[in-house]
Amino acid sequence: MSFNPAKYRRTPTPELPNRQWPNRFLTQAPIWVSVDLRDGNQALANPMTVEQKLALWHQLVKMGFKTIEIGFPSASQPEFDFTRRLIEENRIPDDVTVQVLVQAREHLIARTYEALQGVKKAVIHVYNTTSIVQRENVFEKTKDEIKAMAVQGAKWVQEYAVKASQTNPQAEWTFQYSPESFSQTETDYAVEVCEAVMEVWQPTPQNKCILNLPATVESTSPNRFADQVEYFITHLKNREAALISIHTHNDRGCAVAAAELALLAGADRIEGTLLGNGERTGNMDIVTLAMNLYSEGIDPGLDLSQPQSWLPVVEEVTQIKTHPRHPWVGEVVYTAYSGSHQDAIRKCLLKQQADAPWNVAYLPIDPKDLGRDYEAIIRVNSQSGKAGSAFVLAQEYGLNLPKWVQLDFAPVAQKLAEEKGGVVSHRDLYNAFAEHYGLNTAAMTLDHYQLDRVNGKEQLTIEVNGEQWQGSGNGTLSALCDAWQQRSGQNVDVIDYAEHALHTVEMNAPQGKHAQAIAYVYLQGEQGKRVSVALAEDTVSAMLQALLKGLN
Ligand code: KIV
Ligand code: ZN
Repeated sequence: MSFNPAKYRRTPTPELPNRQWPNRFLTQAPIWVSVDLRDGNQALANPMTVEQKLALWHQLVKMGFKTIEIGFPSASQPEFDFTRRLIEENRIPDDVTVQVLVQAREHLIARTYEALQGVKKAVIHVYNTTSIVQRENVFEKTKDEIKAMAVQGAKWVQEYAVKASQTNPQAEWTFQYSPESFSQTETDYAVEVCEAVMEVWQPTPQNKCILNLPATVESTSPNRFADQVEYFITHLKNREAALISIHTHNDRGCAVAAAELALLAGADRIEGTLLGNGERTGNMDIVTLAMNLYSEGIDPGLDLSQPQSWLPVVEEVTQIKTHPRHPWVGEVVYTAYSGSHQDAIRKCLLKQQADAPWNVAYLPIDPKDLGRDYEAIIRVNSQSGKAGSAFVLAQEYGLNLPKWVQLDFAPVAQKLAEEKGGVVSHRDLYNAFAEHYGLNTAAMTLDHYQLDRVNGKEQLTIEVNGEQWQGSGNGTLSALCDAWQQRSGQNVDVIDYAEHALHTVEMNAPQGKHAQAIAYVYLQGEQGKRVSVALAEDTVSAMLQALLKGLN
């Protein structure tokens, strides 16, 4: 890329030496407005059919949106028809307000009210562009002429509302104005245009209008957009009579950040789309912003808890697959492949109490809140090390491997991952574990054992492969080591051992018995150290089997 310093310029933003937004925190969710059915739909190569729009509409209502921009009814017949269907088929719940977009042109405004005949509550969203580039190169109009267009649009919106109310007297109309490309407009001038529009509508704190400030094309860093918003809000006359709405696009990848900072700067309302669908790089992603709030303990006021039910609808109507690493809802965003991450997650999850604040490394929220199970959190691949296998075997099969078993098994899991060339399934991992330690085969047949305590020592009598062995020791395992020593003349010591009952899955012990326990034994024999594992119907049998296997 050959860089030409004269080609691009910084977008001007106002001086704001006493800016307040950096000192504030977000404490509550904004008023949300979904523009999926308008901005999102306009951006699709194949716009949604009326049926698809209906499916998405129902999903948005179910999630809890109370204002939904349903389209641009004067722009095309399908958009008009969709508005009519919602109204005629009585699909708009009483607590939901529909919003419609229209340019500041009389015939389009007239047609918009025609589409809304019979509606109970609607926001009429009128806009014209105010940016320098559009004024100069597209409209070739002066600032005053552009302001006059906005004022004229505001008048038509008001006049046609009066007319529409004659046939639909119960309708509640709210007026919204957007200085399109606000972020590329001189902020003083945006204030001037919006005040002129408010002069027409005469809103009051009880009957507010909405001023929507779009970053139609994102062209500054989020902090400078926040300056623009704070400047606008603090210089606007009669600010209490307007709801300040923000509509950011994602050209620089910062639409969510810009919206968050704009809220700190005093905005009340956020327009955006699910997963950020929209023109070019898309609109502000409501899912991400809502979940950002949620992860900081702020109720987002939207129900996103079942992505498995709403994600497929969004993907189907937009024909856009969700990126696997999409914030909060991507397929692998709660999955750890790295061994050190897996180890940290496993340790934190073991310590996490159900009612305590969430405190788990690498997992910003509890994946269960978004319908995810822990089983997908840790995937074993060649980067995973011992922690990943240990986590999977514990979570999925209830096997609590002691450290020395984890270390012993790690090279087996590593080899398997390398052979598979990717993620190892949980089943393959268990099968490799079972095969490596011969869990499905008995080393020797153990038919009968008896333990007696004599003079503070364990006396073990055991029938192995039909022969009787005897030994004594401080415990069961040392008694068996003694019996072995008597028979074979070889010394053997138990360095460590562990056993536990099995609860999670049904596993078969050798000889078709149902395994209820597992034992792990770490032995030091004359030929070296060895780890041995066995399943059995009770813990003592499992320990004896594990040791016999090791001796064999
Ligand atoms: O991005 C934009 O400026 C818009 C306006 C019409 C609000 O979508
Ligand atoms: Zn937009």
